Amino acid sequence: MKNLLVTGGAGFIGSNFVHYLMERTDVSVTVLDKLTYAGNRASLEGLAPERVQLIVGDIADAAVVDPLVERADAIVHYAAESHNDNSLHDPRPFLDTNITGTYTLLEAARRYGTRFHHISTDEVYGDLELGTPERFTESTPYKPSSPYSSTKAASDLLVRAWVRSFGVRATISNCSNNYGPYQHVEKFIPRQITNVLDGVRPKLYGEGLNVRDWIHADDHSSAVWTILNRGELGQTYLIGADGERNNRDVVELILTEMGQAADAYDHVVDRAGHDLRYAIDSSRLRTELGWAPEFERFEQGLRTTIAWYHDNEAWWRPQKAATESRYVELGQ
Ligand code: NAD
Ligand code: DAU
Repeated sequence: MKNLLVTGGAGFIGSNFVHYLMERTDVSVTVLDKLTYAGNRASLEGLAPERVQLIVGDIADAAVVDPLVERADAIVHYAAESHNDNSLHDPRPFLDTNITGTYTLLEAARRYGTRFHHISTDEVYGDLELGTPERFTESTPYKPSSPYSSTKAASDLLVRAWVRSFGVRATISNCSNNYGPYQHVEKFIPRQITNVLDGVRPKLYGEGLNVRDWIHADDHSSAVWTILNRGELGQTYLIGADGERNNRDVVELILTEMGQAADAYDHVVDRAGHDLRYAIDSSRLRTELGWAPEFERFEQGLRTTIAWYHDNEAWWRPQKAATESRYVELGQ
């Protein structure tokens, strides 16, 4: 594999993947990204122009997609509408990008015989009870809760159908909650870090007892690179780093790390249909493909992430005011 097409490569996890490839491999990358509110050219700044090209376009536009897929050795498909809260207020773009966009890419992969890796989420499995040892595995039944997660579930099923019916050479990965640099300030961890930097109290939905299974974006990237190179075609791999924490603990950790009182946060109105708990069993990826995360301690990764937002205000500042006014309208 010499030339990769990375969709959504100007977003959070996609741009981290492109940085990872530049540092650890010799592949060249074409990024296809629509630069929605969530995409940011600045996330790709400083990367070698002879190895990274950004094409601004829509994954649901076959006229844009087809020639790019024809030239690529593989597609790594990150592009999506990704925020649950947005999907609760305007689901339409989620259907267009997550379902029709994935369909458009799959048709191109089928036409040109191109290897396809689909990036998905643990949210397709719904949620788990608090305080149980149960975790998601590759055979957990799909039970998505939100418009976002149901469109991601639909996209996974399209990939499976294109493998079975048309022989598309695809793999799927379902990962847990990512954190790290270049994450949009609408998301939980960067929202709270940048609030504290602005002297604003963090906002916890409901009681804050919901649990997420945190993984650093670099560990997600190494897992995707492993699956792309060594994964079995047609298979699904779950990606997680045993990072379960409830939201209250995360907010208290951020406040403490940033020199504030641990209880200096506010409770705000809860998210509709809020999933209680996610937890990933990544045994298949670890035992069959030999993958392991490098960030073994969430606290360590969180500290470097806080430092990144502290040092990169120019990157997040332009998005902050508009994001917070959207939340004010929602009472969150
Ligand atoms: P993000 O919102 O930060 O980035 C999405 C990117 O896709 C943006 O750059 C945006 O401009 C682009 N995009 C949106 N619609 C497009 C379209 N129609 N055509 C081309 N580009 C388009 O999202 P993220 O958090 O980086 O998530 C990336 C992928 O990883 C998604 O598929 C998401 O479902 C999946 N995922 C995310 C997490 C997480 O914790 N954030 C965890 C597991 C899986
Ligand atoms: O599990 C993987 C998923 O993780 C991805 O598929 C999604 O794309 C990604 O956005 C993320 O979804 P969540 O809904 O879990 O992430 P979010 O950052 O929106 O919220 C994390 C938790 O924090 C969730 O329980 C809601 C809560 N929350 C969020 C915000 C923005 C708060 O308590 N306060 C907040 O201000």
